[in-house]
Amino acid sequence: MLRTDTPVSVKLEEYTPYPFEIDQVSLDFSLEPSETRVKARMTVRRTQPGPLVLDGVKLKLNEIRLDGKTLGPDAYDLTDETLTIRAVPDAFVLETDVTINPSANTALSGLYISGGRFCSQCEATGFRHITYWPDRPDVMSRFHVRMDADKSKYPILLSNGTPGESGDHSDGRHYAEWDDPHPKPSYLFALCAGDYDVWRDTFTTMNGDHVDLGVYVDKGQAKSAEWAMESLKASMKWDEERFGRAYDLGVFNIVAVRDFNFGAMENKGLNIFNSAYVLASQESATDADFEAIESIVGHEYFHNWTGNRITCRDWFQLCLKEGLTVFRDQEFSSDLRSRPVQRIKDVMRLRARQFAEDAGPLAHPARPSKYGSIDNLYTGTVYEKGSELIRALTVFIGIDAFNKGMQIYFNEYDGTASTIEDFYSCFEKASGKDLSQFRLWYAQAGTPEVKVEESWDAASSTLTLTLSQKIPATPGQPTKQPVPIPLRTALLDGKGAHVGVEGWENGEGVIVLEDEKMTVDLKLTGTSDKPLLSINRQFSAPVRIDRELSNEALLELAAAETDPFNIWDNFQTLARTEIFRLLDNPQSPPDEALVGALGDAVRSNESDPAFAALLTALPDIGELFQHREPVDPAGLNDARKRLRKALGENLKADAERILAKPSPAPFKPNAEQAGIRALRSAMIGLTGALDTADASRKLKSLFDAASNMTESLACLRTLVPFETAERDEVIETFYETWKENPLVIDKWFAVQVGQGTADDARRLSQHPDFDLSNPNRVRSVAAAFSMTNLAAFHARDGEGHKVIGDIILEADKRNPALAARLLTSFEQWRKLEPVAKASAEKVLKDLQSQSLSKNASDILARALG
Ligand code: PHE
Ligand code: ZN
Repeated sequence: MLRTDTPVSVKLEEYTPYPFEIDQVSLDFSLEPSETRVKARMTVRRTQPGPLVLDGVKLKLNEIRLDGKTLGPDAYDLTDETLTIRAVPDAFVLETDVTINPSANTALSGLYISGGRFCSQCEATGFRHITYWPDRPDVMSRFHVRMDADKSKYPILLSNGTPGESGDHSDGRHYAEWDDPHPKPSYLFALCAGDYDVWRDTFTTMNGDHVDLGVYVDKGQAKSAEWAMESLKASMKWDEERFGRAYDLGVFNIVAVRDFNFGAMENKGLNIFNSAYVLASQESATDADFEAIESIVGHEYFHNWTGNRITCRDWFQLCLKEGLTVFRDQEFSSDLRSRPVQRIKDVMRLRARQFAEDAGPLAHPARPSKYGSIDNLYTGTVYEKGSELIRALTVFIGIDAFNKGMQIYFNEYDGTASTIEDFYSCFEKASGKDLSQFRLWYAQAGTPEVKVEESWDAASSTLTLTLSQKIPATPGQPTKQPVPIPLRTALLDGKGAHVGVEGWENGEGVIVLEDEKMTVDLKLTGTSDKPLLSINRQFSAPVRIDRELSNEALLELAAAETDPFNIWDNFQTLARTEIFRLLDNPQSPPDEALVGALGDAVRSNESDPAFAALLTALPDIGELFQHREPVDPAGLNDARKRLRKALGENLKADAERILAKPSPAPFKPNAEQAGIRALRSAMIGLTGALDTADASRKLKSLFDAASNMTESLACLRTLVPFETAERDEVIETFYETWKENPLVIDKWFAVQVGQGTADDARRLSQHPDFDLSNPNRVRSVAAAFSMTNLAAFHARDGEGHKVIGDIILEADKRNPALAARLLTSFEQWRKLEPVAKASAEKVLKDLQSQSLSKNASDILARALG
């Protein structure tokens, strides 16, 4: 038996196919919380020479039979992680019988208990905690499942596919069978057993097939599943209309569980969701919750084609399913809601999560070539950058070729475990273009920086652009090759119109920067003064644009812009520059011209309140962090507050006017009403930026009057930093009102640590409702503090680092995936000013000396490396 404590990495280049195929497997579960018996019967065929190696972790092996004969211990080798059967024929039936302990499974990977019910999580490597199996995505098999359990405790028994036989035994137990006709990898297996309430509906596919839909939730909560169900039906319809893809089983179920490591999981026909992304009642859910449920329900549903029917050959290809499915869910949300608003939100998230990751020690390519721990690869780079690359591809080859390529992909790769190369071959066919240089985007980490220089020749009416790209060095990749960067571009006249350019249609063109440097001559079709350049419209490529524009020029450009994304982005650039100026000039007042322009922009966009609300959002500290080194987050926070206060003063009368109107009634979670509430919430936030006794009273009365969670929470969040009696009262009232609803109490924790100090985080981590075994609750304190409150987390006294270090240490003992995720909040530590930097390093080194889990050690080694 070989054991080693040094993290060993798995390498893409070492991929070899599995030497056997398992056409069919029958699983038989006898469910008991601390002793579940799992019998597997698999039909195996050899396809290449080699031993039969099965993965299995923490399984108690009762028996193995090969073609009906029990194997003695000398017929196989057992290690902590594998079962190897020495000599097997070319075709045979293998039966295994193991016992597992779901109630001891605190890592939430494999079969576990949540809220007294059985549930499973198999991606990426959970199935090996259930039974012996080649637990890799390229081994696809047809699963038949039989479960039996105590009927009174577990009246509902669910698995993948469609239900078969079921019935009662005489001893109070019952059984149910499920059959999934679609071959699938083990990571898509799922099982749920317990007592639930169900919200049911049906859907008829474009092929006329009937589908029974069910959302399974806690007893008494069926009505809270209604929105998830509406979102599911909308997703099913959208995938038919947009991609021509219909659902392929007679049943689609969603089960909500309170204890879950991620957002949700796309198991075939049986999605399992973190209850935070299913349950939504009018009173208790914010618009952001409704929006997240819609997009995550869509995301998991869309995996049925991109992930399940076409899966990944190995985990290096993770972004084949995740990047593509994020792209699909973003498109779904854009079609259902406002496309420009969606685009801005997606880019905010990309910049906050992925750009930061790409600029730090955890940077890795969208398709990595090695990894230490697969759980740590579910990153912003794989998900968000993966989606951006597909979006950039739609611009690079054009939407028609993209759509054609998607159909080639669906038709040619259905039923396979594929690679990024397979996927791109479809777009090469569809577009006739060689995409090998484009695929470099997948192999190189780091966010490209594009420098843009302009020169205007009035005599020839030509604007000459000089564009150059640079991709920063990242761990293990000191030098990079240029990638194709498709930049949507327009020239503007400053009066709301586009200037014609030779070769462009409809006033817009795509410039592709393929080399390190290029010049392009944009020759106007008519005569004009020097036009204004609008580039990377709609954020067509995931790059940083570097332009030397004065504030005046940027303001002029913001006023001339016709692309809503760029309007917003120009103000973000202006605000960022201003925050840094305020940081460097502590005595200087905020720039009146900028504040006035921003206020005017908000007022003039009031008819699109969701967009206006986004204009009021100054770049957050995480975003600002990336633009200076060494950085002092507390100083940045002060500078940012000064600018916010000035904006609050500019918009004071508007805030009063907007908030004097009643909130839309009756409540609907649609985009239209959500936009109105978003602007109201932004005004609540700006009221708080004034930081006066009057503001505190105002916020308290708005809180008392609020008729929905979006606005109640906005008031609570805004009041947290005040030192007033109103603040304490609101915190107390909110808790008393919602203490029975864990999802709302998660928010209560999160807003307090999100605005508070390390002492608040420490105190709340000792609150009786804090629960280390529930990932949502742990995140509502630890992640909400360390990932959204950078000024307090990185405060010079080191208390922020310590409190998070302590939580990570405790969390890691139960749930390594969770602890590793929390550790990533330290990823920027090297950029900190010296005092906080030293304290972060000490906490990380202390943790490293504690011999943490493999997941946590992987992050620590890279963060410190
Ligand atoms: N595959 C899931 C998704 O993106 C995420 C996930 C990964 C969930 C691993 C659980 C475990 O939709
Ligand atoms: Zn996904």
